[in-house]
Amino acid sequence: MNELALHTVNIPLADRSYSILIGTDLLSSAQAFEQLSHGGSALIVTNTTVSPLYADTLSTTLRSHFANVRVLVLPDGEHTKHWQTLNTLFDALLSHNFDRKSVLFALGGGVVGDMTGFAAACYMRGISFVQVPTTLLAQVDSSVGGKTGINHPMGKNMIGAFHQPLRVVCDLGTLKTLPPKEVSAGLAEVIKYGPIADSDFLDWIEGHMPALRLCDSDALAYAVRRSCEIKAWVVGKDERESGLRAILNFGHTFGHAIEAGLGYGSWLHGEAVGCGMVMAAHLSCALGLVDQAYVQRLTRVISSAGLPVMGPVLDVHDNAGRYMQLMRHDKKASDGEIRFVVIDGPGRAAVRGAPDDVVREVIERCCA
Ligand code: NAD
Ligand code: GLY
Repeated sequence: MNELALHTVNIPLADRSYSILIGTDLLSSAQAFEQLSHGGSALIVTNTTVSPLYADTLSTTLRSHFANVRVLVLPDGEHTKHWQTLNTLFDALLSHNFDRKSVLFALGGGVVGDMTGFAAACYMRGISFVQVPTTLLAQVDSSVGGKTGINHPMGKNMIGAFHQPLRVVCDLGTLKTLPPKEVSAGLAEVIKYGPIADSDFLDWIEGHMPALRLCDSDALAYAVRRSCEIKAWVVGKDERESGLRAILNFGHTFGHAIEAGLGYGSWLHGEAVGCGMVMAAHLSCALGLVDQAYVQRLTRVISSAGLPVMGPVLDVHDNAGRYMQLMRHDKKASDGEIRFVVIDGPGRAAVRGAPDDVVREVIERCCA
């Protein structure tokens, strides 16, 4: 199997360990999907945008391993990542008699991946699933690490479970059909790994931004591989986010407030995270952890990825108050105290609280 993938990154999680295959033409490679079937059926879960592009290819490939392969096409969009859509998945599984040996294949971006993974975690108290991410964001982040779930009107990804996939198959060829705005959104999560874990990677991203935005194959292959290596290292040390893993949420506390405050789907998740990282960098500076030059540099990199660097106004009367109300629902909040991922030196992150007046001042400075 290693011969067909350009890179293989392993997630070390004892009996839940698995591989991320990164390469081209993997969707049509029977080898990439071998040893996943134990005599059950396969359900490809995808959406109205991705299905016409890639569902037939994957179905044909999976037929080498599964006698019964079905495709379920969900509606597209972050605003559909809720209970009602999840229920259509359970309806399909039950009405076609899928049993415990069945395997779900999440073919799509993070929305399909998170919902399919959550369905796999719940159906018959847990069945297997495979991530087949087709967005940059999903290849570098959401398909890896076993976080699955749906949104609640009061908070992003609030209902979910940890459930690791059996394998992640990243076919870089699928990124060729991604709209530029979605490439930029994925770049937000790529950039994230630099400030929190690897300042050399941030240098590399800065130097290769034009190539990344043009989806140059070599640049994307390295970006996906390095991002997955960093995520694998973090998840391998702290699978269930009892500590270290929280650093992967750099920019997400502000970003999730933007997504929930504007209504899911108004800004792309990656756009909200990009802007959230700028806000978190300003907060790190206000707390004396990094200097203004670092904030300006990170802001430049995020802007050069085509991402917004000013936050939206969520409430014309009390904007900072509205952000803080939303951020109190963040999963890192503890006893009502909002906790932020901050940068406390290049390539190093920490999780901590901050005085309300400092946070308010940052929100006021960063929103327009
Ligand atoms: P998405 O799943 O909505 O995909 C973005 C858009 O691209 C959609 O319209 C989709 O249909 C389309 N698309 C997908 N693949 C395509 C392709 N190859 N060609 C053309 N169009 C394609 O969004 P996303 O950015 O992939 O994921 C965002 C979601 O991921 C959010 O819900 C976020 O909360 C979640 N997330 C989860 C984790 C995790 O650890 N589980 C981490 C980060 C983000
Ligand atoms: N995207 C954050 C995490 O996987 O922990």
